[in-house]
Amino acid sequence: MIPATPSITDRPSELATDISERLNRAIREHLLSAFAPDNTKSLRPFSAPEAAELLGVSGQFMRKVHGEGTIPEPKDVRAGRRYYSAHELWEARQILEKASRTKGRYVPGRKEGERLQVWQLMNFKGGSSKSTSTIHLAHYLALHGYRVLVVDLDPQGSLTSMCGINPEIEFDGLTVYDAIRYDDPVPFSDVIMPTYFPGLSLAPSRLLLSEFETESAVNSNPDQPFFLRIRNALAQVEDQYDIVLMDSPPQLGFLTISGMAAATSLIVPLTPSMLDVSSTAQFLELAGAYMGVIEDAGAALQYDHFKFLITRDEPTDVPSQQLTSFMRALFMDRVMAATALKSTAISDATMLKQSIYEVVRSEMTRATYDRAKQSMDAVGSEVEAMIHQAWGRS
Ligand SMILES: Nc1ncnc2c1ncn2[C@@H]1O[C@H](COP(=O)(O)OP(=O)(O)OP(=O)(O)O)[C@@H](O)[C@H]1O
Ligand SMILES: [Mg+2]
Repeated sequence: MIPATPSITDRPSELATDISERLNRAIREHLLSAFAPDNTKSLRPFSAPEAAELLGVSGQFMRKVHGEGTIPEPKDVRAGRRYYSAHELWEARQILEKASRTKGRYVPGRKEGERLQVWQLMNFKGGSSKSTSTIHLAHYLALHGYRVLVVDLDPQGSLTSMCGINPEIEFDGLTVYDAIRYDDPVPFSDVIMPTYFPGLSLAPSRLLLSEFETESAVNSNPDQPFFLRIRNALAQVEDQYDIVLMDSPPQLGFLTISGMAAATSLIVPLTPSMLDVSSTAQFLELAGAYMGVIEDAGAALQYDHFKFLITRDEPTDVPSQQLTSFMRALFMDRVMAATALKSTAISDATMLKQSIYEVVRSEMTRATYDRAKQSMDAVGSEVEAMIHQAWGRS
């Protein structure tokens, strides 16, 4: 039975709690139907052409290495067509790498002397596509053979739920908060969990993470400055990853700033509307001031890359294109060349907490899917090239 809507004469605290409970219940039911039957996410298989593209080889080469028995047949063969699980793809990568004369051809992660890449996506404008961009980058990089850790710095936990953990559904495990709190923090490795995506791990978040904001405001211990909490946590697990991607909350609080002090590169996702552009200008003014404070406190900041990413790009919308051109004219290559297209394929996928990489092409209008995927691939590939540049490879 649906409980009656409280009247407006109820106490606001009861009203808010009641709305939250009803909403959470409805979300839980919706998610249970989306994630049925056991409420866990799993990843679709990849067709042979997709597998070849991800490995960067031809279909002919794939048939050859199967024929020679270099890589095992996938378990899923239907009507003579091979379908690979992401895990089988990951394994094939490792085998091909061992057999390859060019080191790093199939397993492109960092080598000795190349430092961990820590990329933060941040903007205090809500809805600027921070979480969507983070999950797409994470999936792109993991599917291309990198060891990726996503760190959810947003107490809203959007990224956490996109990784298959639902803060709404009784998730009471450890979160980033437990590793960065001032009182008796746990090792960061205790917080990190594997995901259903090979190569992708998650440091999850939930509402409790907002405690860090409160605690940092009153923390006066000079030995534990707030801005080193995330940097120190990451240092504990540095060896295990090639790339860390951090999603930020839509505010410039202690979490975002602590992320900034840990980052080696920054991306500011920006939707080309006048309100978003002016809000971003204010955001950067404030971010600049905080960076100055951190530097004055003795923690050197040095970013390999500091870029804008145009998100929800609409090529047929004249005002937004004019704003994009304006940004490019003003900041030139500080604006990434690739843009994330506004697409119903992306919004439909994110409704089900998926990225475009998890969607099966035949389940969408193909042209829409192709345009969205090409755009996300272009963003991923440009970031990958910047990472290689930071590693001094090009
Ligand atoms: N390229 C895109 N095409 C269509 N819809 C998009 C695209 N990118 C993001 N969206 C939609 O915009 C909304 C906001 O995106 P997202 O949650 O990624 O923003 P955010 O910056 O993380 O928000 P917040 O500030 O609340 O954390 C989501 O509903 C998402 O589905
Ligand atoms: Mg978000």
